[in-house]
Amino acid sequence: MKKPLKIILVYGLTLICFSCYYNEFPELEDIIIDPEEEISFSNDILPIFEANDCAQCHNPAQQEPDLTPANAYNSLVPDYVNPGNANSSSLFTTLNNGHRDLDATSLEYIKEWINRGANPN
Ligand code: HEC
Repeated sequence: MKKPLKIILVYGLTLICFSCYYNEFPELEDIIIDPEEEISFSNDILPIFEANDCAQCHNPAQQEPDLTPANAYNSLVPDYVNPGNANSSSLFTTLNNGHRDLDATSLEYIKEWINRGANPN
């Protein structure tokens, strides 16, 4: 094989390998929720609590905040959520510190829901 061809082949394969690597491991910065998208408590946030079975512990008989669907909003706001500021909201900081090992997309939705005003709908 001619040398230039060999070089192109090696570089090409290396590039392909690296592009796969990045496709499989998206970084947190890659999760961008459309700024125009309205984030809904009942359609976007409650399903995260349900999917992660938060109410198994967070219910009226056990642990505050109460995350059962009918009570979750009033239990969270304003005690655990400071509308407009996720970094001063213990709902976000607790989860961001690894409580329940939430996936990055769910975490980003909770953060943006708070930063966009913690819409009750
Ligand atoms: C296995 C039981 C369990 C599950 C499931 C669970 N939690 Fe918790 N959570 C706790 C306990 C216990 C505490 C209090 C002690 C602590 O902070 O770890 C707590 C504390 C919290 C706090 C309060 C932090 C503070 O500042 O007081 C928040 C907010 C919270 N959990 C949110 C969630 C969310 C959201 C989910 C679901 C993604 C969840 N938890 C799932 C047991 C649980």
